[in-house]
Amino acid sequence: MPSSSPDLSPTLAIIGGSGFYDFFGSDARSVDVETPYGSPSGSITIGMVGERTVAFLPRHGAKHQFSPHTVPYRANLWALRSLGVRRIFAPCAVGSLTPELGAGSIVVPDQLVDRTSGRDQTYFDAGGVHVSFADPYCPELRSAAVQSGGDDGGTMVVVEGPRFSTRAESQWFAAQGWRLVNMTGHPEAVLARELEMCYAAIALVTDLDAGVEAGAGVRAVDVFAEFERNIGPFKSLVSRAVAAVDGDDTCEHCRVHDGVTLPIELP
Ligand code: ADE
Repeated sequence: MPSSSPDLSPTLAIIGGSGFYDFFGSDARSVDVETPYGSPSGSITIGMVGERTVAFLPRHGAKHQFSPHTVPYRANLWALRSLGVRRIFAPCAVGSLTPELGAGSIVVPDQLVDRTSGRDQTYFDAGGVHVSFADPYCPELRSAAVQSGGDDGGTMVVVEGPRFSTRAESQWFAAQGWRLVNMTGHPEAVLARELEMCYAAIALVTDLDAGVEAGAGVRAVDVFAEFERNIGPFKSLVSRAVAAVDGDDTCEHCRVHDGVTLPIELP
C-alpha cells in the first residue's frame, strides 16, 4: 500500500452531489456500510485531501436515484459516524431569494428554517432527548468555509420538494429575510447534531427562485446545468475548507449530550 493510501478511519466527511465523485485521486477506496436505519444512499469513498483522510457520501446515490424527500438521511449520518467521522461539510445546490446573490455565488448559511414534512428527523423516538439546535451549524466548520472564500451567513429555508416553490411561497420566504432555498439541508443538519457531529452546509446558488425573478420559474435542467458550470470553483472551495479545519473531534458547541443519558448507543 503506498504511504499516501487512505486508512479506513476518516474523521471528516463530505456529503455532496454527483459533481464531487472525482474529488479524490485514484488511490481512493470504497466501503459499504449497513446501519439499523437501512443502507445509506451509496458506497462511501475514502480518500486523501492533502494530509487528511476524508469520506465522501453521494447524498442522492451513485445514480442520483434518491429525490430530496427519499434520501435515507438517518442511515447516511449513522454510517459516517460508525466509520469515525466527527465533522461534515455538506455542499448543496440552492436557489437564491435575493437578487444580491446571483448564480455561482457560494454561501455558508448560518441559520435554517425547516419547511419539510414527514421526514424522519430524529434518532430519539424513545423520548427524553431534545438537542440544542439554536445555532444549527458548527461555528468551527463555518469559519473554515468562510475563510476559504464562502459568503458569510444567511438563512436557508429547506422545502419538502421535489417540486420547486410557487412564486407566492418564494416571495413569502424572501419577505422573511431568508436568503436561500434548498431541499436537502434538513434533516441532515439535525441528525448530525444528534450524533454529535460538527456540520456545516456550503451552498452553491444555481438559480434565482421564482419569487425573485419574473421569468418562467425554476427548471431542474437549468439548476443541474448551472451546478455543472460552477463545480470546479465549488470543489476548490470545499477542498480549501477541508484543509483549513483544525482538529479531528467534535467541537464543544456541537457536543450536546454531555450529562444526558441516551436511550440508544451511538455508533
Ligand atoms: N435547489 C436549487 N435551487 C433550488 C430552488 N430554487 N428551490 C429549492 N431547492 C433548490
